[in-house]
Amino acid sequence: MSHRIKIIYQFQLIFSSCLLIIPADGITQVELQTKQLKRIRENFDFNWQFHKGDIAMKKVVKVGGQGGITDINVEIVTKDTIIDYTNPTSYKVLYPPDWKEVNLPHDWAVEGTFVHDNNLGSQPASSGYLPTGIGFYRKEFEIPITDLGKKISLEFDGIFRNSTVWVNGHYLGNHKSGYTPSNYDITDVLRYGNEGKNVILVRVDATEPEGWWYEGAGIYRHVWLIKTDRLHVARFGTHVTTPVVSEKLAEVSIKTTLKNEYKVAKKVILVSKVIDKKGLLIDSISTSQAIEPYSFIEIANSGAVKNPLLWSPETPNLYKVLNEVYDNKELVDTYETTFGIRTIEFNRNGFFLNGKLYPVKGTCNHQDFAGIGVALPDKINWYKLKLLKEVGSNAYRCSHHPPTPELLDMCDSMGLLVLDENRFLSSSEEGLNDLTTMLYRDRNHPSIIMWSMENEEWIQGTVMGTRILETMVATTHKIDPTRPVTAAMNHARNEGGYADVLDVVGYNYGDKQLAYVKDHENYPNRVIFCTEGTSFVSTRGEYETNWSKGYVSNSIIVKPDWGPYPGEDWADIVKYPYLGGLFVWTGFDYRGEPTPFWWPCVTSHFGFMDICGFPKDGYYAYKAAWTNEPVVHIFPHWNWPDKIGDTIQIHCYTNCDEVELFLNGKSVGKQKAIPFKKVIWSVIYKPGKLEAKGYKAGKLVVRDVVETTSEAAQVELKSDVNTLKADGCDVAVIRVAIKDNKGRVVPTANNLVKFEIEGPGKIIGTGNGNPTSHEPDKASQRMAFNGYCMVLVQSEKKVGKIRLKATSDNLKGTGVEINAE
Ligand code: GAL
Repeated sequence: MSHRIKIIYQFQLIFSSCLLIIPADGITQVELQTKQLKRIRENFDFNWQFHKGDIAMKKVVKVGGQGGITDINVEIVTKDTIIDYTNPTSYKVLYPPDWKEVNLPHDWAVEGTFVHDNNLGSQPASSGYLPTGIGFYRKEFEIPITDLGKKISLEFDGIFRNSTVWVNGHYLGNHKSGYTPSNYDITDVLRYGNEGKNVILVRVDATEPEGWWYEGAGIYRHVWLIKTDRLHVARFGTHVTTPVVSEKLAEVSIKTTLKNEYKVAKKVILVSKVIDKKGLLIDSISTSQAIEPYSFIEIANSGAVKNPLLWSPETPNLYKVLNEVYDNKELVDTYETTFGIRTIEFNRNGFFLNGKLYPVKGTCNHQDFAGIGVALPDKINWYKLKLLKEVGSNAYRCSHHPPTPELLDMCDSMGLLVLDENRFLSSSEEGLNDLTTMLYRDRNHPSIIMWSMENEEWIQGTVMGTRILETMVATTHKIDPTRPVTAAMNHARNEGGYADVLDVVGYNYGDKQLAYVKDHENYPNRVIFCTEGTSFVSTRGEYETNWSKGYVSNSIIVKPDWGPYPGEDWADIVKYPYLGGLFVWTGFDYRGEPTPFWWPCVTSHFGFMDICGFPKDGYYAYKAAWTNEPVVHIFPHWNWPDKIGDTIQIHCYTNCDEVELFLNGKSVGKQKAIPFKKVIWSVIYKPGKLEAKGYKAGKLVVRDVVETTSEAAQVELKSDVNTLKADGCDVAVIRVAIKDNKGRVVPTANNLVKFEIEGPGKIIGTGNGNPTSHEPDKASQRMAFNGYCMVLVQSEKKVGKIRLKATSDNLKGTGVEINAE
């Protein structure tokens, strides 16, 4: 039984805390005052202890008696371990020296030392030559007596991988996937109030990989402690869609799964409120229904938004559904779901967003970043997305697995379309569990436009692969009928009926022999999309390929034969808009997969930005292709003391009609630019100044200058922020540049920079984008690489001034100050 209550009445009826606002236009609106949300979702990231390596665990067959390190009240003495858990009132714990204090997210692999040994781990090159192994996380915590009677659970956003969890000596379960979240109901095994302290132990076994890239090791995403009433919205329990969208009206369908974990039946009232981004109440729908003890029900409410503000990457307008659960008249649970109003359609003519052809300018990305491995504070996820938006990208492919949920929230609010990807082609129970967890967790995000079932699995194009895929696609359609399903296939797999199972056929490297164009003609019903392309390799700031150092030139082209040059791939998307768009492999370099070299390279070369987010030359090819901003970018640098008199090629990425190059003020020639192709001049090297002038319709619109610099003289620090939140999470990204005495970045400078930090902040990692660097990322120093390096500074839970000083032998040092507030 569902009915709509007139907004004002309903609010007057139920809340005295609501504020009525009568705006000048006379339309009555209701603004919600911040009122206490009933559900508690506490961050559980702080104050863990971590032990690297395996520990023999006491095995018992009686529940709750696991003891040892899984519990408090058990004495454990081993060879080098003395932990006094025998006195529950003192809680005095003596940790052996090999346990250390950590906060999450945490990745122990990135703290390790590079090892060139193929016997270590299963894929040392793929994982960046960083050993993984087994580790333990342990945390003590208290639960007040007032929580007795609530439902309490722990949500792990992601642990890499094969994690086993105990609370107070009780084994709770095991979760294999390193990419899907896991959840444990700990209500019954907790100690409340005076019953004593609680201990959680998590064993993480990262020895087996799931992919062919660096995957890290540890509890590398957030953990949440969730407390609800026994009558509550279930985990991932809402599904908000907008089945009808027009300029005038959007219908909002709100399906909510409610769970009654009381011993008695309940009569529940569910109030679903639709709220806009200013917090104004737009619609409110209420339904009441009975729920049997220990049962679920689904309630479907439907609301409406008049004159909806549509969601798109350019206008990331968001709305919210606030679900309120009443047990009789008492509000017992509140649950928020963010949603957006937009239409998506993939068809034979391309991808359409809100009814308009919308070329997807995407990048594929793995999770890691310099300095921190896969343990990214939210700020760094945000920073990476911001850099991608700046190059003109409007889409993100989570290759090849579901991302951390916070990243999807950011894509919603920053405006990036998402291709959300399942890890394995599998219809086993475990495989489908991972798939459905991704779908239930992620299906409310407006940013997600399509689900990918897998990437380049070997049984693509086989009848067995087809059977598996069919099960997965049907499962996906059932859980989310609003989005199409794809799979990222190498050049499509037309055999075995595989591609025919999909709504959209994903082409990786379909530009090869124009496979995607031929297939568009040969398969008249096929909807095609470029799930992956490019795979151009280059090392930032390098202009000579050096096999022993493991560097790939940006100008003398060495590239895997499966991809085109940067930017050139966009020509096909413009020519054949039915391809829908492209996800470039990759936005950022990542650890592992060090193609085309192996050791001593430890990171890939595929990014158009390096692992720190410093742009390579190819970055400008995409900026030229993807933005309307005039772009002229010339390279290489102009510091070649050994090449005086030699011929050097000057390369240029541009979106101008013509570019004229000058050396020391003298024209080297004006050239017409072919869209998405490089312009190249040959110049006899003379130190000085190279200048390129870009013209559009005969008008000078942009210029780029490259100068021969003097030798390194000073260090410069640039923090991306002046203030940090004093929350122990926020991070400043500090870019370090080595400059000459005129303030020009020295493009060949590799000086060692040392950092000192004072105040309530800490260095959590360093990086320099050198794919062959074997320096530790967790250090207070870093060599610059071709002029730059980077240091990440994280706040503590304390306000004050953080001062970072940078020094380097024979160079003028510098400092930066950041306020932690
Ligand atoms: C693709 C694959 C990616 C990466 C890339 C390197 O075929 O999907 O994961 O390996 O090749 O070029």
